Amino acid sequence: MTKETSKKKNGTQEGRIWAHKDLLALKDLSAREIELILDTAESFKEVSQRSIKKVPALRGKTIVNLFFEPSTRTRTSFELAAKRLSADTINISKSTSAAVKGESLLDTAKNIEAMNVDAIIIRHEAAGAPKILADAIAPAVINAGDGAHEHPTQGLLDLLTIRQKKGRIQGLEVGIVGDILHSRVARSDIWGLTKLGAKVTVCGPPPLIPAGIEEMGVKVTYDLSEIIRRVDVLITLRIQLERQKGSYFPSIREYARFFGIDNEKLQGAKPDILIMHPGPINRGVELSPDIADGKYSVILEQVANGVAARMAVLYLIVGAQSEEE
Ligand code: CP
Repeated sequence: MTKETSKKKNGTQEGRIWAHKDLLALKDLSAREIELILDTAESFKEVSQRSIKKVPALRGKTIVNLFFEPSTRTRTSFELAAKRLSADTINISKSTSAAVKGESLLDTAKNIEAMNVDAIIIRHEAAGAPKILADAIAPAVINAGDGAHEHPTQGLLDLLTIRQKKGRIQGLEVGIVGDILHSRVARSDIWGLTKLGAKVTVCGPPPLIPAGIEEMGVKVTYDLSEIIRRVDVLITLRIQLERQKGSYFPSIREYARFFGIDNEKLQGAKPDILIMHPGPINRGVELSPDIADGKYSVILEQVANGVAARMAVLYLIVGAQSEEE
């Protein structure tokens, strides 16, 4: 595999496609950089199909998963991605770290840095936590989801899945339905999709659509039937009850009635519509079980692509460190 890439701590290098020490947000990347990650991910997909699922690209590197929030998909697929690139991995969760004794996030990160690791993958409930670490420590910092800010590798795996199924991103009509206000996935998807030329419309109960979201280059509708008739891809989002501080809709049952996707609501949709969801799904709320498991759903393909997308990110960022040594 070839890569036109290089890394510079806390900055970029002129004339190189990959020039970032960290991955904090898709907002920070150019269309060319996103496409480089997607192309690199394509080349890694077959590694996961082998009987011996390993390449030596990151042999000798140490990658720490620092998760302050629960996760099934992201933590597991980052760990698998690192292992399939032959890196050594360590998992630290909030409940088993000194954070429960009052240690600050920065102190935790500096202590991990002192053990000479190459990258820290962080999930944190506070938007901006990965940026604070990235500015303070030498190892690469990769955002695995920070508050309602961004979840860049989810955005990348969503782009990879759409491109794989539709053959392109440019010109596609994409709907994002649900709790846009609290969704870091929505923000990363919007940045990634619009940079690659898709037309994005967001839809949900008015209190869950942030004011001024049109400035991100998206349209807004509150009419689910209108969006369903027109889109090539429908990304459904989890209702994030743990982040909702107030009452945004009368009840879960009301939400499901107006914004949950079921067979009846999909009448009039394009026959090749893709239904996506980042997980975890609230079955019967955002999606009826027959839709979640049905012919339009690519949810488990998203999960599979997550490993390849994260292998690409680790290869480009951590692998580029070797070129400088
Ligand atoms: N999509 C996603 O972030 O899932 P997890 O919370 O399980 O990592």
